[in-house]
Amino acid sequence: MDRIPGFRDFYPEPLPTTDVWSADLRRLIFERWADTARRYGFREYDGPPLEPLELYTTKSGAEIVSQLYNFTDKGGREVAMRPEMTPTLARMASAQERQYKKPIKWYAIPQLFRYERQQKGRLREHFQFNADVVGESDRAADAELIALLIDSLRALGLAASDFVVRLSSRNAWQDFFSRHCSEGSKACEFYQVIDKLEREPFEVSAAKLEALGFAINDVQAFITAGQPTDELRLILDNLAARGLGAFVKVDYGVIRGLDYYTGPVFEAFDLKGEFRAIAGGGRYDNLIKVMSGGRVDLPALGFGMGDVVLAELLKARGLTPDVKPRLAAFVLIEDEALRADSLALIQRLRDAGSSVDYSFVPARSDKQFKRALELGARATVRLERSPGGDLIAKVKDLATRAEHAVAPDDVVGAVASVENSRGSAQSDVRAEP
Ligand code: HAM
Repeated sequence: MDRIPGFRDFYPEPLPTTDVWSADLRRLIFERWADTARRYGFREYDGPPLEPLELYTTKSGAEIVSQLYNFTDKGGREVAMRPEMTPTLARMASAQERQYKKPIKWYAIPQLFRYERQQKGRLREHFQFNADVVGESDRAADAELIALLIDSLRALGLAASDFVVRLSSRNAWQDFFSRHCSEGSKACEFYQVIDKLEREPFEVSAAKLEALGFAINDVQAFITAGQPTDELRLILDNLAARGLGAFVKVDYGVIRGLDYYTGPVFEAFDLKGEFRAIAGGGRYDNLIKVMSGGRVDLPALGFGMGDVVLAELLKARGLTPDVKPRLAAFVLIEDEALRADSLALIQRLRDAGSSVDYSFVPARSDKQFKRALELGARATVRLERSPGGDLIAKVKDLATRAEHAVAPDDVVGAVASVENSRGSAQSDVRAEP
C-alpha cells in the first residue's frame, strides 16, 4: 500500500531510496530551531493537530481555507487538521494571557496539513518552526523576530550569500491602497494579487489589478522605489546594530497571502531564487482580538519556517549536515560465557550516557565486527578473562585500530576518550555561526 501523495516517510540514515526523507536530518533541523529559540529566550508550547474548522474560516483568508483538510467528525463537529499554527497560538494566548508576563515569547514545531497543489517545496504536510511574540507593539520586537529567523538559518550553516529576508509593510501597502482606492473592502483582494505578482503571468496580474481600479505600472513603480517607511527604518537599524544588516532588504514585492497581517511583514528566500519562500511572517495586531471575540486585545507578531524548502536548500548548497548514525561503542560478545558480564558492561556504559549496541544472539566474531563498522561505532569493546580469572576489557579505536586493555571499571573513561578524540560529532554542521 502506498502513502498518500504529498505526505512523507522519514527513514533513518543511510536512506534506502531517493524519494524518502531523512528522520536524522529532520531531528537535526528541529534541534537547531529549538536551540536558536532557546538562545532568544522563547518558551515551547504546542496545541492539538485537529481544531474546529471555524478557527481558520474567521481570519486566515480564502487561500488557506481552500486548502484545508477538513471533515465532520463522528460527533458531528466540523473540524480541520491545522494548516498553520497562528490561529491556535492566538486562541491559546488569549485564553491564558493573564498567567504570563508580557511580552509572551513562544515557539512550536507543529506538523501542518494543507491540501494544496503539489509542487517543488510545497507538500500536503510539513513541519513548521513558529516563533511568535504576544503583547509588544514596539518595532524592537519585529527586529528581534527577524534576527531569530536569520540566526535559525545561520545555525544550519546558511550565510548572507545564501538567503535574504525581504522586509515589507502592510502599512505601506495600506497607504498605497488608500491613495488609489476608497473602497476598503477590496483591500484583501488587492493584497492577494500583490502576493501572487511574482508567481502569476504579468497579464493576469495586470487584469486583476485593473478590475480593482489599479494600474500595474503604479504598483511596480512603488515596489521598485522600495522606500523604507519610518517603522521599517527602525527595524533595519536594529538589525544593523547586531551586525545582521546584510541579511535583510526592503522589498515591497512581499505582502503575505494570509489575511490577518497588519504591519511589517517579511519572507526569507534563497538568493539564487530557485526555491519558494523558506519562511514568512509579520505583525497581526488584530487577530487575538478577533479570536477572543473582543475579550483580549494584544498586539502580536511571528513567523513560520517550513522544513521542506529548508531541507532542499541545504541539499542544493551542499550544506546537509553529517547525520550518519554513530555509536560510541559496539560490545563484541565473543565468548558466550561472558554474555552476562558483557550486559553489565553495556548497562554501565549506557548509564554513563554512551550509545552502545551489541548482538542479541550468538554470532561469529567477524560478523559482529562487521556490524560495528556498519553502525559507525567509534570503538569496539570486548571482555576477556585473564589466565588468573580476572575480567579485562579490550577497547579498540576503530579509526586507528589501536587496541588497549583496561580494567572493567575504566571502560567508561576509555570509551569516552575514544569518542572525544574525534569530537562528539553525531551531527556535525560544517559552519556553525
Ligand atoms: P506561511 O507563509 O503560510 O505562513 O508558511 C510559512 C512557511 O511554511 C513557508 O514560507 C514555507 O516554508 C512553509 N510552508 C507553507 N506551506 C507549505 C507547504 N504546503 N509545504 C511545505 N512547506 C510549506 C504561515 O503559516 C504563518 N502562520 C506564519 C506565521 C507565524 N505568521 C505569524 N506567525
